[in-house]
Amino acid sequence: MAQTQSDWISKYRVPLENEESLKAIDREGLGCLESNPWTILKMATIWSYAHHIYLPIIKKRYRHAIYVDLFSGPGLTIDKTTGKRFIGTASLMASISSTRGGFSKCVFVELSRDFAGDLEERLKSLQIAGLLTCGDWSVIQGDCNGVIDEVLERLTESHSHMLLFVDPFGFNFRFSTLKKIIDAGPAFDMFMNLQVGPIARSTGRDASGDFSEGALRAFFPDERWKVCTEAVDIRECLKDRYIDCLYEHGGARIQTVKPIRIRGSGDYYYYLLFTTRKTASGWIQGIDRIKKMVESYDCSSVQHYLHGGATLEDF
Ligand SMILES: C[S@@+](CC[C@H](N)C(=O)[O-])C[C@H]1O[C@@H](n2cnc3c(N)ncnc32)[C@H](O)[C@@H]1O
Repeated sequence: MAQTQSDWISKYRVPLENEESLKAIDREGLGCLESNPWTILKMATIWSYAHHIYLPIIKKRYRHAIYVDLFSGPGLTIDKTTGKRFIGTASLMASISSTRGGFSKCVFVELSRDFAGDLEERLKSLQIAGLLTCGDWSVIQGDCNGVIDEVLERLTESHSHMLLFVDPFGFNFRFSTLKKIIDAGPAFDMFMNLQVGPIARSTGRDASGDFSEGALRAFFPDERWKVCTEAVDIRECLKDRYIDCLYEHGGARIQTVKPIRIRGSGDYYYYLLFTTRKTASGWIQGIDRIKKMVESYDCSSVQHYLHGGATLEDF
């Protein structure tokens, strides 16, 4: 039977709001991130992929399944509109329990000293509560672009595969950082938050007058973003050009790129780009199913469910 919107969101609120985990990580004095209603679509996507597709398949084929999160946050998120608490993706992925268990290793990177410390405390609490499934975990405090060599040094196990998550607020992720991972890291699948709105603004084309050429030069491997300043739809153009770069520089590591559009309020949206070295397999069909469902939501429909609505009929 086909899954409805309400089935999907109800199903994925379960791991994101797991009471036992929330009890362990919702500790006084520790910081958290404020999120928007549509954030749970991103969290549900990565959880769903890791839990139902990635871990069951990868752990059958590889000795090590590694999770690397380069913008990990403090491990707890609070929805601005409802005050509901959600397990942050870092805590979520470190306690995931698929039919073949969790990740064998997790490496988290966080720029904020406070958030890095908060995440470490939360992972310890999950461990004490017996909920941590990641065999070996570490938190590196620093700019992921600056500490990427240190991250790669921790990924030396042979016969390993990595799920990489790149989730910046803006676009302070250098292409040279990704290139190092492509060239020196294990085979990987990636989810990357592509913030097309801030990238478009930084080209200086809109009324804000912002122009951050240095940031654009670091984010793209070359100057092809410049063609988008003349495009009818600048955000779509930037997304397409970035995908071209991923294919061009990804070699054997990036053979398929699937953009999943996550709609926020008003005209705001971003893409969660999924990449893999596979060109045809069950897990690409799995991603297509997740994409179809996630793209069917907008801010109002997610908010409707978060506020307790059961179906779209009472929306
Ligand atoms: C969008 S939040 C991540 C949310 C997290 N993925 C989640 O779902 O709970 C981005 C995080 O990246 C951190 N950050 C910003 N710049 C960074 C950088 N250059 N390197 C590492 N972390 C960074 C921020 O402090 C923030 O906690």
